Amino acid sequence: MTVGTKVSVEAALNEVARLVERRMEKLLPVAEGHEARLADAVKYAVLAGGKRLRPFLVVASADLFGVARDCSLRVAAAVEFVHTYSLIHDDLPCMDDADTRRGKPTVHKVFDEATAVLAGDALLTYAFEILAEEATHSDPRVRLELVRSLAVASGFHGMVGGQMIDLVAETEAMDLSAITRLQQMKTGALMGFSVEAGAILGRAPMDKRHALRGYARDMGLAFQIADDLLDIEGDAATLGKDTGKDQAAGKATFVTALGVERARTQAEILTDQAIEYLDVFGAAAELLRDVARFAIKRNK
Ligand code: IPE
Ligand code: IPE
Ligand code: MG
Ligand code: MG
Ligand code: MG
Repeated sequence: MTVGTKVSVEAALNEVARLVERRMEKLLPVAEGHEARLADAVKYAVLAGGKRLRPFLVVASADLFGVARDCSLRVAAAVEFVHTYSLIHDDLPCMDDADTRRGKPTVHKVFDEATAVLAGDALLTYAFEILAEEATHSDPRVRLELVRSLAVASGFHGMVGGQMIDLVAETEAMDLSAITRLQQMKTGALMGFSVEAGAILGRAPMDKRHALRGYARDMGLAFQIADDLLDIEGDAATLGKDTGKDQAAGKATFVTALGVERARTQAEILTDQAIEYLDVFGAAAELLRDVARFAIKRNK
């Protein structure tokens, strides 16, 4: 992702996917001993593919501040581990009860529910272990900030809290502002961390951090609207997961609140807003602009 050279966002996404996959493979535990089944389940989930969008956001934002790839790829791997854990648990029968993920049977289908719960737990905790290690950044204050920010984005006030509201909304009516909050928590928060992580690693000035935060907030929301639209209009084989599940479960989404056309317009408005935040970076942020556009135009 050389700054100044025009690269397609697809090519840049593929490049980061390849790099982060290599890094994750190195970081994964070796399957041995009586816990080998757990390592097998973790590996199955992590190396199943996926767009690797959150790792891309980490690397692209870290590149803005000249952070060594060796450091940003560790953080990218940590975020993807948390994201993969969230998907394993999201697919469990007690949550969205999904049989297919990333084009393959879900972890609890191939292994069993208890192993899927443990694989998620292992990935979540391992992410923090990675961030806390010296190789992630020489300054312990930077590592502490990464740990704290990922904890906030993943936990009660972030992804896990959002997942709770997502389940409550299956039976309770929610207005658009409640749905916005739910989506920002369950999806936007981890995307926000991904973008901000680059600024934390690069000890970026406050104005740039604010700009990246604003970008991530609007882009993350637009990304989840696209996910909800794909659940209705997408092709299951291309997506690698079953469609029509949100309506069947009575989920509250932008699409249920606004209808397909207005939800799509909302995603476009949010994307334009997200891109405006990047003005402060000039041409250096072109890939972040492109990936925001990609987030709502994608077919998987
Ligand atoms: C799916 O995320 C779950 C949501 C938060 C919408 P992605 O669409 O990024 O899934 P992968 O990682 O590409 O499989
Ligand atoms: C999941 O949202 C968000 C997570 C935090 C995992 P969805 O339930 O809509 O994600 P998909 O559609 O199953 O990927
Ligand atoms: Mg869900
Ligand atoms: Mg789901
Ligand atoms: Mg979905």
